[in-house]
Amino acid sequence: MREDMTKKEIEAMPIEEVVAKSNLRHIAFIMDGNGRWAKKRLLPREAGHKVGADNFKTIVRYCKKIGMECCTVYAFSTENVKRPQREVEALFRLLISFIEEAGEEKDIEFRFIGEPGELGETIGKRTRELEEATRGRPYRLNIAFNYGGRAEIVRAVNSLIAEGKREITEDELSARLYTAGRPEPDLIVRTGAEMRISNFLLWQAAYAELYFTDRLWPDYTTADVDEAVREFASRSRRFGGLDAADAVRGV
Ligand code: IPE
Ligand code: IPE
Ligand code: MG
Repeated sequence: MREDMTKKEIEAMPIEEVVAKSNLRHIAFIMDGNGRWAKKRLLPREAGHKVGADNFKTIVRYCKKIGMECCTVYAFSTENVKRPQREVEALFRLLISFIEEAGEEKDIEFRFIGEPGELGETIGKRTRELEEATRGRPYRLNIAFNYGGRAEIVRAVNSLIAEGKREITEDELSARLYTAGRPEPDLIVRTGAEMRISNFLLWQAAYAELYFTDRLWPDYTTADVDEAVREFASRSRRFGGLDAADAVRGV
């Protein structure tokens, strides 16, 4: 619990003020539950991914509106290629149509984290083009596609080895991750009722606050974002130290 703002005060504040007062700059979402959402409706899993992809746009725009600097979404893990070909292809098509419609977004600097280029020439080309066309914009969006946290760390270490380094620092490693130059997530939200990280931002999540909800991603709303943000604001982030008042009291 934090001591400078009570839960009641946080509840009464406009959400933009909660974001600013709690120094929340970056939310990351593990967008899980599309398949179960579809199954409940006797629809194919792909239908859940379609609604999930539309919802992703709504949530990302909302995060910008309430004052976030950066947002990350986990859209496709390196392990997700194990799924049936039909589902995997549907996810690739959704990515391509998302990129085709991304011209509507005027303030977003896109970055794809992971190795989308390994999934095919078209995906590689389109993702690179979108990154280049949107460079320098104020709101940063990381889309994790063909992303794995362990693979990201190994890749960073290999690039340091290739530079001839025999000993490395945390800053040097951070600077070789896909997320280099962008803030680490302050808050990681996972929808879909699973309480695990599933190989997401393993390095960057060192001091992120974790928030899990049963809501399935296609049902996740902007009101749910507010709830997670208010919960984040009520937590005390100590980063291994003590709260200021406890440090003074010495107890
Ligand atoms: C998350 O939803 C999206 C991807 C992993 C691509 P799932 O497809 O994992 O949905 P569930 O977990 O089966 O409900
Ligand atoms: C994590 O969800 C990956 C994404 C949301 C893209 P999964 O559904 O793949 O994770 P597991 O299999 O439940 O760990
Ligand atoms: Mg899942």
